[in-house]
Amino acid sequence: MIENLKKRFPVFEKNKNLVFFDTAASALKVDSMIKAVNECYSYEYSNIHRGIYELSSKLTKRYEDSRLSISKFINSPSSENIIFTKSATEGINLVSYCLSDNYFHDGDEVLLTTLEHHSNLVPWHLVSKKIKIITAKLKSTGELDYADLLDKINSKTKLIAITHMSNVTGSITNFDEIKIKAKKFNVPILIDGCQYVPHKKLDIKELDPDFYVFSAHKLYGPSGLGILYMKSKWIDRLGPYQGGGSMIKNVNTDSSTYMNGFQKFEAGTPPIAEVIGLSASLNFINEVGIDKIFEYENKLTRYAYNQMKKNNDIKIYGDFSNQTSIISFNIYGIHFNDLAMLLDKKNIAIRTGHHCAQPFMKNFKISGNARMSVGIYNTTSDIDYLINSIEEAKTILQS
Ligand SMILES: Cc1ncc(COP(=O)(O)O)c(C=O)c1O
Repeated sequence: MIENLKKRFPVFEKNKNLVFFDTAASALKVDSMIKAVNECYSYEYSNIHRGIYELSSKLTKRYEDSRLSISKFINSPSSENIIFTKSATEGINLVSYCLSDNYFHDGDEVLLTTLEHHSNLVPWHLVSKKIKIITAKLKSTGELDYADLLDKINSKTKLIAITHMSNVTGSITNFDEIKIKAKKFNVPILIDGCQYVPHKKLDIKELDPDFYVFSAHKLYGPSGLGILYMKSKWIDRLGPYQGGGSMIKNVNTDSSTYMNGFQKFEAGTPPIAEVIGLSASLNFINEVGIDKIFEYENKLTRYAYNQMKKNNDIKIYGDFSNQTSIISFNIYGIHFNDLAMLLDKKNIAIRTGHHCAQPFMKNFKISGNARMSVGIYNTTSDIDYLINSIEEAKTILQS
């Protein structure tokens, strides 16, 4: 029963009244993941890949087995397509740097959208001496304008980089037509799946992107670990990204040669305990079932949405036909930060501000909004408490 999963999250033992609605920023941590990381550091730790001794070889195997579980979780063709980074942000920076180094030509166009997180904007700005950034518009509801986006794909487009699920509105991108048009012009696609993967089944073979990124900390897993899926043809063509230990074949004082495959992108001692921790949190998600998680969270979000929608003072961003797990809103006459402070006094954690999506906020001529986002530890009574508390906040702040 998903309703009973709160007890798997130790944070609630010390914060019994906490009502946590900021999972989109980072999810709370599940006990089995904490145990796996703790045991790794306590009893199993040594550096991996290079040690001949047993401690190192055992941990190397666990680490590479974890790569395999992560690969299976997204139905990747092979664990060799999984590259570990320190964050999803680093994954996109890696791709933008490597494409700029060995793919883009002056004046090539990269197509982004106004819905993107800064992590899928700024890495492209950093290489914008070479490329021209084109941005797809939003509709007045805050949804992606697919007609505009499709219209902007042409022979100059050399990459399309889009979120799979918006961290502001929770709306899920439909890639069907984008893929058809991209194929016509032979344009690779990068997908930012940070918000999608924790909530909905990802079948990477079916979706078939060239690059896909997500982060462990939004999957009830540890911080400090991002996952970059890269198609084999790009692994062969691109890189390296950073230089150092682990990614080399042969080093002289004045030159070096590099590993092939994902290894050439993983310089230095990797996030060992974090990878093992993520594998434990994915086991937890698999035990519960990602489809059940989606159904449960979707029911909760719709329950919240229907109640908020009754209130004419609340403006919700996005049209909600294709949204899940996130509701971002403003209340007439109330600053979002005042709302968050009052809710905090009632142990409710919501997020306010621009959510690292300033172009979205600028599009609506606002400096920010309030965002509630659900995880598997939330319940309908959490939602009722939030809705009642918003009503109380309105009485206090609007008078
Ligand atoms: C849609 C989206 N993309 C990218 C990121 C960046 O993820 P990270 O901070 O783990 O690198 C986030 C984090 O909030 C996000 O929501």
